Amino acid sequence: MKIDDRVSGKTRLVGIIGNPLEHSISPYLHNSISSLLGVDFIYVPFRVEKESLENAVKGLKAINVVGFNVTIPYKKDIMKFIDDNTKEALLMGAVNTVKYIEGRFYGYNTDAEGFSRAFKEGTGGSFKGKKVAIIGAGGAARAIAVKIAVEGASNIALINRTLSKASDISDIINNNIREAAASSYALDDAKAKKVFSESDIIINTTSIGMYPEINVSPIDASFVFSKGQIVYDAIYNPLETKFLEEAKKAGCKTSNGLGMLFYQGIYAYEIWTGIKLSEDRIKDIYPSFLSILKN
Ligand code: ATR
Repeated sequence: MKIDDRVSGKTRLVGIIGNPLEHSISPYLHNSISSLLGVDFIYVPFRVEKESLENAVKGLKAINVVGFNVTIPYKKDIMKFIDDNTKEALLMGAVNTVKYIEGRFYGYNTDAEGFSRAFKEGTGGSFKGKKVAIIGAGGAARAIAVKIAVEGASNIALINRTLSKASDISDIINNNIREAAASSYALDDAKAKKVFSESDIIINTTSIGMYPEINVSPIDASFVFSKGQIVYDAIYNPLETKFLEEAKKAGCKTSNGLGMLFYQGIYAYEIWTGIKLSEDRIKDIYPSFLSILKN
């Protein structure tokens, strides 16, 4: 349906706060879900400058939005302007989805939830009792590491160029999630290579290997994959990074970040509408998501 036919006096607003936003696929994804389900929402981008973030959040409350997504660079900064962030989002230090209910904003992290679902679907694996190595220690690594710890991984090794950032994340896990044991290693530490080869699951959270720099990998030849490991790359462009290509050659099961991108949007949508989408619905939506990416 054309937008001039779709928007009425009853239409509700959702959107995304970030900067820049020109390349965001979220408006296409969410508007196509609304069209498909017949939900009267319109999703628009809100490009916000850092100094206006608080006012933007207040303004969105004043105009009674359904909720909004948050992307780079505000996933952390937004949290202080949200009334209630979930316990998990607080540990992850990031919120990417906000819902407005009766005068209050509630903050969630659907990136991690989306990662978890996509990982399980893409690899058939789970985290319970597993040894996991995470490459990188930025915002994505923290959310993924916390999620994996909450889901029962026994050991989580954070491997990063800057050791202090990996240690910050392992401290958060060790101080808050009793069941998991986290450790941190510098990328050039020989112990990192041993832990890497002995892990059940390896996850790249850095942007190394992302288009257009597709011929690089976050690890060098001193890191050796072991046959049977499950290897996940949060990157979705290209679909097979050099990292995943090498893992596959070594006999590992691999999965890319496409599903994480899809499911973070699905979960946000479910939070806003309160509707749990059935498997059949999700299967109906997926082809539109793929065609949005292609275009
Ligand atoms: P995000 O919040 O999306 O996770 P980020 O905070 O920029 O992104 O984190 C990117 C991660 O990739 C960081 O851990 C970074 O390492 P440093 O902590 O040492 O900065 C890692 N990274 C980025 N470029 C890298 C490179 N060329 N070599 C090694 N690590 C790199």
